[in-house]
Amino acid sequence: MVILPLPSAPEEPLSARLVVLVSGSGTTLQALLDASDDASWGARVVAVGADREDTLGEKRATDRGIPTFVLKVSDFASREDWDAALAEAVAVHEPDIIVLAGFMKLVGKHFLSRFEGKTLNTHPALSPSFPGMHGPREALDHGVKVTGCTLFVVDDGVDTGPIVAQAAVPVLDDDTEDTLHERIKTVERATLVDAVGRMAREGFTVSGRRVTIP
Ligand code: GAR
Repeated sequence: MVILPLPSAPEEPLSARLVVLVSGSGTTLQALLDASDDASWGARVVAVGADREDTLGEKRATDRGIPTFVLKVSDFASREDWDAALAEAVAVHEPDIIVLAGFMKLVGKHFLSRFEGKTLNTHPALSPSFPGMHGPREALDHGVKVTGCTLFVVDDGVDTGPIVAQAAVPVLDDDTEDTLHERIKTVERATLVDAVGRMAREGFTVSGRRVTIP
């Protein structure tokens, strides 16, 4: 169970600290950055991490003067060492919530031992269908008529954690992987911004597979 701590000083605005991890274009991160322009949203991005150099996501952060870090798996002796370093790099920024926003790596046991229960991931499919890297493509290949996005609390599986929010997106007859994914991403960003704002403002609990925002 997790309940977000409230700021200790009564005069401080209620503003949860977000660390966001990215691998690519960072449109999901951008939605969080834009939302944080309104202080009443309740959260702000305090750092952005990436698993590769020169991502547009990292640039979106540096353009705003937000601290960034890059940790490539190939720079470490083992995946486990990378995972421990990632946990350390995130911890420096004392996050209330960590958002994996198009972060194309699984976090491991070191990361989860520190941040389980407060790490969120957004996935472009309606879980438990189509976990993994190719949610939109697999939905198309399967011929589903409705797919969507899932925001969940990260556990040690692949897109298996307790579900925070989901939204449906119709599959159109002439969809390609790209057109479908782009429509999902539009809905995904709105779902993420709405849920993270409510979680930041009101706290949340995770009890078994149930996530509750009071
Ligand atoms: C999003 O659709 C996100 O759900 C997906 O990558 C996209 C990131 O876009 N993540 C996964 O598929 C992880 N399994 P962005 O780089 O423009 O934010």
